[in-house]
Amino acid sequence: MKVSYTEIADVVEKQHGIDLSVYESAFLSKTITRQMKLAGLHEVSDYVTLLNNKSEARLLIASLNNSYTEFFRDPLVFGLFEKRVLPELFERNKNKKNGEIRMWSAACSTGEEAYSLAIVCDEACVNQNQKARHRIFATDKSSEVIQRALIGRYSQAALAQVTFKRLLTHFERSDDFFLIAESLKKTVDFSVYDLLDENSFSPPASIFGHFDVVFLSNVLFYYREDMRRKILLKVTNSLAKGGYLIVGEAEKQIVEEINAYICCFGSSIFKKV
Ligand SMILES: C[S@@+](CC[C@H](N)C(=O)[O-])C[C@H]1O[C@@H](n2cnc3c(N)ncnc32)[C@H](O)[C@@H]1O
Repeated sequence: MKVSYTEIADVVEKQHGIDLSVYESAFLSKTITRQMKLAGLHEVSDYVTLLNNKSEARLLIASLNNSYTEFFRDPLVFGLFEKRVLPELFERNKNKKNGEIRMWSAACSTGEEAYSLAIVCDEACVNQNQKARHRIFATDKSSEVIQRALIGRYSQAALAQVTFKRLLTHFERSDDFFLIAESLKKTVDFSVYDLLDENSFSPPASIFGHFDVVFLSNVLFYYREDMRRKILLKVTNSLAKGGYLIVGEAEKQIVEEINAYICCFGSSIFKKV
């Protein structure tokens, strides 16, 4: 069932100050339909009435902001990143005076992606006998997920792709949960940042952007086309020349359309030209 969401968007904007028009229409329609079913409603007009209620609106907004993530979510991409991209960045960085490799996990959710990045960087430093000269910034528009990332406490489900060796090295067990080791936690700088914020070019915590790597995974496809472009433009401008952009497998085409990158290794890793 495809629902007309104009009235719904109106009430959510008026009552709760949230603009639903930024989302991709099929995704929005599917989410609304699901929420209506969960509420046991068939008529859009009934759902509109229900949305005047704050907690129902909160449920709709939460289901639009899917925050699903896991460590090493795309193992192939992380493998390529570790074996092919990182060595190049370390090599490039050797010749820079006081240089650092700058990375940004731009929709980091509860932190699994940023900590996965921190793990491979930490291991690369150990393997190459180099002192850490990298910085990882991790941002999300939701302060709730950032709070959870800062705590760094994960259930086994999020850790399915983490090897036993990594579990032993980078985590501490606490009952049924695993806590990120304090030393690793210190290498990631988490902050709240909305990619659609028009008042800044990059997250303020990073001061000037100029990233060598940006992970922008599994966030573009939720937005309508002009919003995707807006986000991509911001991220592209924040990347240094020759920097790498990593998106979700389903988002490759969105990047290919803007002609600012070459696709690397046939994967969802792109290099800025
Ligand atoms: C599905 S999760 C993806 C997490 C991780 N990047 C991954 O691939 O596993 C999408 C995340 O994007 C965040 N997000 C959505 N819109 C955003 C925006 N405009 N600015 C920053 N974060 C956003 C959501 O809050 C959510 O945590």
